[in-house]
Amino acid sequence: MTRSTALLAALLALATMAGAAETDAVVQAWPARKPVRDAALEAKVEAALKNLTLRQKIGQMTQPEIRAITPEQVREYAIGTILNGGGGWPGQDRAATPAQWRELSEKFQAAALQATPGIPLIWGTDAVHGHNNVRGATLFPHNIALGATRDADLVRDIGRATARAIRASGLHWAFSPTLAVVQDVRWGRTYESFGVDPALVKRLGQASVEGLQDGMKEGRGVLATAKHYVGDGGTRRGIDQGVTQASPADLANVHGAGYLGALDAGVLTVMTSFSSWTDSAGYVEHGKMHGNAVLMTGVLKDRLAFDGLIVSDWDGVGQVPGCTPEDCPAAINAGIDVVMVPFKWKDFFNNTVRAVEQGKIPMARIDDAVRRILRVKFSIGMQTPVPATVEAMQAPELARRAVRESLVLLKNKPGLLPLKGTARVLVVGAAADSLAHQSGGWSVTWQGRDTSNVDYPQGTSLLAALRQRLGAAQVTFDADGSKSDPKNFDAVVAVLAETPYAEGEGDARITENLRFSRRHPKDAEVLQRVAGRGKPVVTLLYSGRPLYVNDLANKSDAFIAAWQPGTEGAGLVDVLVEPTAGKAWPGFTGRLSFPWPAGPCQFSSHEARSWWPVGGGLSGKETQANTKALPEPADPAPICPL
Ligand code: GLC
Repeated sequence: MTRSTALLAALLALATMAGAAETDAVVQAWPARKPVRDAALEAKVEAALKNLTLRQKIGQMTQPEIRAITPEQVREYAIGTILNGGGGWPGQDRAATPAQWRELSEKFQAAALQATPGIPLIWGTDAVHGHNNVRGATLFPHNIALGATRDADLVRDIGRATARAIRASGLHWAFSPTLAVVQDVRWGRTYESFGVDPALVKRLGQASVEGLQDGMKEGRGVLATAKHYVGDGGTRRGIDQGVTQASPADLANVHGAGYLGALDAGVLTVMTSFSSWTDSAGYVEHGKMHGNAVLMTGVLKDRLAFDGLIVSDWDGVGQVPGCTPEDCPAAINAGIDVVMVPFKWKDFFNNTVRAVEQGKIPMARIDDAVRRILRVKFSIGMQTPVPATVEAMQAPELARRAVRESLVLLKNKPGLLPLKGTARVLVVGAAADSLAHQSGGWSVTWQGRDTSNVDYPQGTSLLAALRQRLGAAQVTFDADGSKSDPKNFDAVVAVLAETPYAEGEGDARITENLRFSRRHPKDAEVLQRVAGRGKPVVTLLYSGRPLYVNDLANKSDAFIAAWQPGTEGAGLVDVLVEPTAGKAWPGFTGRLSFPWPAGPCQFSSHEARSWWPVGGGLSGKETQANTKALPEPADPAPICPL
C-alpha cells in the first residue's frame, strides 16, 4: 500500500469513526423504548404481506390526491391510500355534503378492495381544528389557542369530536396534531403549535392523539399523525421548510418532546418535516429530514420502537438531493413508508417499481414499509357507526368552551369587563363579521382567506353573537368606524385581525417586523377613529401568533388575544358580556403559551424583555388599575437586525 492510499485509508477510517460517533450522539440523545407487539396482528400482517406482488406493495406505498386519481385507477394500480389536500373536495365542490364525501370514499374503497382483497384503503385529511375541509363542520380554535387553555381534557375531547366528524365523512386518517415547539414566531405555522414549552406540547399532543384514536377499532376513532418530524418549528428566522440548527440533545428534548407523548398515546403515523437539521454541537449538516435515515430509522423506528408508518409530506421527497417528487429511492431507503405524491403518483409508482427491480431499493425495505402500512390498516375498524350527517360533524358547545378558555386578557380597566347585558355597543372592524378571519388558515380552503360567511353556514361571528346576547337594537356595526360617534354608546368593541394564512404564505419575511399596525394599517386606522372619544374600547386581536401591539393597546381600555376562535363566536361573548341571571362570569382563564412581544423585532420564543412572559394574562377580576402607557419604540428602519 502506497503512502497516499494509506493516508486515504486512514482518513476514511477517521471519517467512518466520526460518522459513527455522530450517529451515536444523535441516537443516544433519545430515550430507548421497547416495542409492544400483538402476535395476532403480526400474524395477520405476515399472511397478507406474503400474497402481495411488487406492484401491489408499491401501490400500498403511493398516496395520490383525490383530484388526480379515479377509483378505476386505484383498482388498476392497487393504490392503498389517498388524501385530500386543503381545498380538495369531492367533485371539487366546497359545498359537498358529508354524504357526498362518504359516497366518494366508498367508491375508492370498493376499487381498492377489488385490487387487494382484505386490505382496505385509508383516506387522510388535514383536520387540524375540526374537520375543516367540510362545509358545516364545527371549527375549533387552532392549537395556539388550545395551548393557552392548558386543558388536556378539552384537547382530548376535541380530538374525539374531530374523529367523529372525519368518520362521518367516510375518511380514516387525520394529519394532526402538529407537535412543533416554535422558536421564532415569524413562522407562518406558529398557530399550529401548542406553544414554546416542550412539556406542554408533549402533554397536549398526547391528549390530542388519545382523543383522535379513541375507539379506532370500533370505527369511531381515526388514525392520528404526529407531525412534522422533527424540528419543523425550529427553523432559522422561522423560515418555513428552512434549516433547524440544534444540538442532538435539544432536537430530542425540545423538538422531540411531542413525539414521546404521541408514542405514549399509541400514535400510528408520523409525517416527516420539510425542514432540514444541522447538528449545532457536532457541526454536522444532516440536510433534509425526508432523507434522514438516522432520525427516521435509527431514532424513530429503532430507538423509539415506532411500529407504525412514516408518511412524507406533500412532494417532500423531491427536496432530497438527487431526487424528484416522482423518483426518490433515497427517501424510501431512509425510512419513508408512504410517499405523499399528490399528482405525479403514476410516475412515482413506475419509477419505484423499477428502482426495486434494479436493486436501488432492497425488497426488505419495501416489505418493512408494507408491513408497517398493513399493521396500521389492520388496527382501525373500517366500518363506522357514525352517520354521514352534518350534525355528526358538529360540537358547538365544546368549541364554545374552547373559545372561552383560550382568550388571554393582556390589558384591562378594572370593572370594564364583563360588559352589562343592557349595554349599547358599537362594533368596529370588518373582521367582527368575518368567519374567515375568525377561523384562520386551514378553513374550508388551504389558506382560508378565499372564503366568505356563506362557506360557514354553521358559524356565528362575534357580531352575530353580540346581537344574539344583547339584542340587535343594542348593537351597531360600523366596519371602519367612520360613521358613528362612540359617545352614543356604552362601549366600543374593536376587532383587529390578521388575514388568514397557512404554511410559508404566512411567514413574516426578514424584511418585515411584527408591528401589527404596519402589517394591517387599515385595522389600526379603525381603532384610531374610536379611541379617546370618551367611551371605553375593548379590542380583540384575531391572530395566529403574538404580534407587537403596544401602540394599539395604548389606544384600548382592554386588549384581548383571541387567536383564531373558529366558528363559535358565542364563546367570545360568554366572556365579554355578563352572564344571564344565575350563572357566574368565568373571567379570563387563558394564559399565554408564547411570550408576548414588547418590541416590533421580538420574534424569539425565549424573549426575556417581552410585554408578557409565557403564562401571562389577566383574569379580568383585578381591582388594581394598570394605567401606565406601554412604551412605543420606533421601528428600526427599515428592517429588524438580522
Ligand atoms: C402540507 C403540510 C402538511 C399537510 C400536507 C397535506 O404541505 O405541510 O402539514 O398535512 O401538506 O395537506
